[in-house]
This record gives sequence, C-alpha cells and structure tokens, in this order.
Amino acid sequence: MSKLRKYRIVVLPGDGIGREVIPEAVKVLKAVGEAVNLDFEFVEFPCGGEYYLKTGLEWPEDAWQTCKESDAILFGAVGWVKNGQPIRLPNEDLAGSNVIFSLRFGLDLYANVRPVKLYPGVPSLLAYKESEHIDFVFVRENTEDIYVPIRGMLSRGEEKELAIDVRVITRKGAERVIRYAFNLCVKRGKGAPLDKKLRVTCVDKSNLLRGCQLFREIYNMVAEEFPQVEKDYMYVDTMAMQMVCFPEKFDVVVSPNMFGDILTDLGAALQGGLGMAPSGNIGDKHAMFEPVHGSSPDIAGQEKANPIAAILAAKMMLEWLFEKRKDQKCKKGAELIEKAVKKVLKEGKIRTFDLCYGPYSNVKPSKTSEVGDAIVEEIKHEV
Ligand code: NAI
Ligand code: MG
Repeated sequence: MSKLRKYRIVVLPGDGIGREVIPEAVKVLKAVGEAVNLDFEFVEFPCGGEYYLKTGLEWPEDAWQTCKESDAILFGAVGWVKNGQPIRLPNEDLAGSNVIFSLRFGLDLYANVRPVKLYPGVPSLLAYKESEHIDFVFVRENTEDIYVPIRGMLSRGEEKELAIDVRVITRKGAERVIRYAFNLCVKRGKGAPLDKKLRVTCVDKSNLLRGCQLFREIYNMVAEEFPQVEKDYMYVDTMAMQMVCFPEKFDVVVSPNMFGDILTDLGAALQGGLGMAPSGNIGDKHAMFEPVHGSSPDIAGQEKANPIAAILAAKMMLEWLFEKRKDQKCKKGAELIEKAVKKVLKEGKIRTFDLCYGPYSNVKPSKTSEVGDAIVEEIKHEV
C-alpha cells in the first residue's frame, strides 16, 4: 500500500460565479482523490467585495498566513457590484482586489501561466482554425508593470484633474519570468502547432517604451542559454492581430504584465471563451490557480457559468504539485481530469450555454453542476 500524502489546499471562491465554479473544481478534485488515492484537505475562506460589504474586511485576518502555509491555493474571482456600481474601498481600490494582490505580491507569484488550447468539441470562433492550430501557453509577468501600487489622483477643487499609474519593469522581474517561459517551452517539448519548433515569442512595445526595451534586452540574454529554442519577437499591437490570423505559430509567449492581461482575454476567445480559460500564478515556493474570468455579475446566481476553466485550473494545480513533490499520483490526477474534460466536450451533450453555438446551437444548456457531475462520472469510469 502506498502511503497517503495529505495536501492542504486553500480554497477562496470569492464573489459571483467564483462561488459557483470553484465548488465544481473541488468536487472534481475529490473524485480524483478517490480515484488515485490522493488525500486533500480543503480549507475554505470567504473573500471579496460582498464579504467586504458584510464585514469591512476583504478576507479573514488569518487567511493570508494559511495560504502561505498551504500546499496550493485555488481561487475563484473577486469584485462585486451594488446598485450598478463596483464596490470599492475608501481608497478607491476595488474591494477584494487586495486578496489577489497580496497573494501575487506577498507570495511572489511572478509567472502568470495561461494556456490557450482549443479542445475538440469546442467550436472554433475563427474560420479555418481548428483545435490542431490552437495550443500555446501565455506567460505573463505577474508582479510589476502598471499594477505596482505606485499611482495617484490629484484634484483641483472639486474636480479630479490628474491621474498617474507608473509602469515599472525591473531586471529581476523580467529575467525570472523570461527564464520561466524558456524552461516551460523546453519542458512542454511539443513546439508550435505550425512546425513543431520550440519557440518563445517575446511580446513588447520596445520600439517605444523604455521598460519594454529592457524586457527585450533581458529576453535576448536569457535566450542565449536556450539555443534549441527559436527566438521570436512581436510588438503587442501586431500580436493582437497575429493571435487571430496565425495562432498556430505560437508555442510559448512571454510578455510584461498588462499586455498579457489584455491578450489572454483574446486568448480565451480562441479557446471558446472565458469559461474555458484556466491559469496559474506561480512562484518559486507558492502557487495559486484560478480561472481567467471574473465574477460575472451578469450570469451569477443562475447556475449558468461554465466550470471548465476552474476545473482545468485544478488540473494545473495538480501538475504543479507533481513538479514540486514528484508525486506521480498528482500527475495521474491531472491526466484524469483532462481526459474527462475532453470526453465530456467531445460527446457534446453536456455543456453550459456559452458553448452552445455553431454545431451545438440546438443543445439544451446544462447547469454548472451538471457539467461538474459529468466530469466526475468520467473520472470514475476512467479508473
Ligand atoms: P468576467 O470575466 O466576469 O465576465 C466577462 C464576460 O464573460 C461576461 O459576459 C460573463 O458572463 C462571461 N463569462 C465569464 N466567465 C464565464 C464562465 N465561466 N461561463 C460563462 N460565461 C462566462 O469579467 P467582467 O464582467 O469584466 O468583470 C466582472 C467582475 O469580475 C469585476 O468586478 C472585475 O473586476 C472582476 N474580475 C476579477 C478577476 C479576478 O478575480 N481574477 C478577473 C477579471 C475580472
Ligand atoms: Mg484580465
């Protein structure tokens, strides 16, 4: 009998559909736990804008420390509205945003890893591009750029007059995320769908911006360590066009923070929408996994949200745990999840409303939990 290992997972569902999709991901993890004999302990904390309205806090005081001591974190989304207005702190920050930022900055989760993969059974939104054309990973720097808390607003009399957000790029910040991207490219080992070449594309605006010039200089320096990987450069505006026209060219893409934030929503569209896009926030010691999407007030509370992004985020969590702990059960668990997701998508009958288009426009949309249940059933069948 192999020894059980207990993984302590902090669960932060947050606001809106975060509280609908994360329970499905936990359900799937429990099924995987049973299937491969992995022992999880889930520790859940409320957080976000609604929690702030109730308590005056964005999350409980002991939550951060518990996250720090955990094996991994599973996060939903934060940000909520009241009377049509975003709920804000007295200093104008979005209520709940400090949960994400204190994890990203406080646990130094510097690589935001966002796979862009179109699964069979998800109709492509691009004409002439199918699942064999869309399979790359976006690595977005996650701790600097325009999201550093160096900002301000000045008023003249009653009127807001001047607003400043400072964009910071450092050598250390750029170097570690670029090296992460190259290592990921080698580890992934499959290259770009177009030509199977290992390639890391550097996305920047180095024709103009000093921060981007530094980013590209460091990219060139790190690239020297990886002669087997093809160097590739793309200005961010061209990249937006190329992701639509020529997605098969990309293998791993690396960019400073804000460009990656924006382009990965476009990446989500390439894979069938935000309901399909998972992500990892990864540092050297800690990691947090979440769907790319937000709390979606427009569909929250209606059991409509697609839980697959959250479930694939749980899969990424198992892959990361495997890398850290070399526990084969985690690897097996991740494989089981992906296989089950693929099967459910391919069968085509169980899917949330966002995937009921094109050849699936006559399918009756499933509830969030029905998709989770179907994936759990597949996992049970697979073992
Ligand atoms: P959003 O990602 O919540 O929604 C954008 C659109 O995509 C909506 O029409 C929504 O219905 C749809 N969508 C998103 N996820 C879906 C899913 N799983 N299944 C089906 N449809 C889905 O972004 P939005 O509306 O711009 O922001 C809503 C709130 O979320 C805001 O307060 C925002 O600040 C916050 N937010 C939080 C994030 C986080 O916690 N990491 C990330 C992005 C936004
Ligand atoms: Mg975003």
